[in-house]
Amino acid sequence: MRGTKALRMPAFGEPPFVHRLLEWYRQAGRDLPWRQAPTAYQVVVSELMLQQTTVATALIRYPRFLQAFPDFWSLAAASEDEVVAEWAGLGYYQRARHLSRIARRVVADGMPHTESAWRQMPGVGPYTAAAIIAFAEGGRALAIDVNVRRTLSRLFALRDTPQIDAAIRAAMEPFLPPDSGELNQALIELGALICRPARPHCDSCPVAQACAGRDQLALYGRPPAKPAVRDELVHLVAVRRAGRLLVRQRTTRLLQGLWGLPQAQEHGHGLPDRVQAGDVTPTPVHFTHRFTHRRWQVQCTVVDGDGEGRWIDPRAPDVALAGPDRRAIQMLVEGGFFDAR
Ligand code: ADE
Repeated sequence: MRGTKALRMPAFGEPPFVHRLLEWYRQAGRDLPWRQAPTAYQVVVSELMLQQTTVATALIRYPRFLQAFPDFWSLAAASEDEVVAEWAGLGYYQRARHLSRIARRVVADGMPHTESAWRQMPGVGPYTAAAIIAFAEGGRALAIDVNVRRTLSRLFALRDTPQIDAAIRAAMEPFLPPDSGELNQALIELGALICRPARPHCDSCPVAQACAGRDQLALYGRPPAKPAVRDELVHLVAVRRAGRLLVRQRTTRLLQGLWGLPQAQEHGHGLPDRVQAGDVTPTPVHFTHRFTHRRWQVQCTVVDGDGEGRWIDPRAPDVALAGPDRRAIQMLVEGGFFDAR
């Protein structure tokens, strides 16, 4: 409940549907930390985080990120790897790299103050640019993400076409106030709590009376087809030397910047490059690691040898490990593969 705010009379000329939506939001909206008079920095961090991270996780990680990097200046002073390390576990690490680059641009060139200027920043699309202007600048903008698109498509009975966002903007134009932050948050909240993708709660919707699509919801705001999940066989090679373990920084887009075990080439045949092998020991380490659009079938072999990379203590890794690698290393340690012999 956001019960701390005084109920407000409708502003002169405020349309009834907007008024009902705002009243509902003040009563029922969640009190989320990124909604408390955020700065542009806080909006950038929270909106990039929320792109691929649930609200429940962001509630823990957003304050932690702000503690590590309280503003653009502290973020710009950190290396990209330090920012990626703080992002560990959240996935989609390109977001952390974008944050780091945005901070450096802000420090070098000054803070943008328009949607179009924000959109020049790495990783900032139309949604995030509009969110910054609406939430941090108190400006007039409409932030359309997948949930707001679904909600407003239903409300105005707009069919999905390549021009759907332009149609939504045109429909909302008469209703958007000069200071649009609260209305944008209310639309996000309506999409999250009431106008759900499947089985929306129309009976408790504050704007059901105004909803043009209510009787034919199947026609509007249909979820985009989910991309297929791809299965991949990943063979990790734990190179062992004097109780230490060889790790390398990953360079592929999926886990870029995170550290992990070298990967065997040719689907499990052939050693990783720049590794010299002595004894090779198979292990019972087999597991499935799910990413959003991929599923890794991981297996792991231990090799006594040498190679290029960084040598770590597998019991106390001091690098930001990718999820599957962290799990494989933990299983190897628990399986006694690093016990003194
Ligand atoms: N998801 C994306 N942006 C959000 C916001 N500002 N509040 C809650 N959930 C969100």
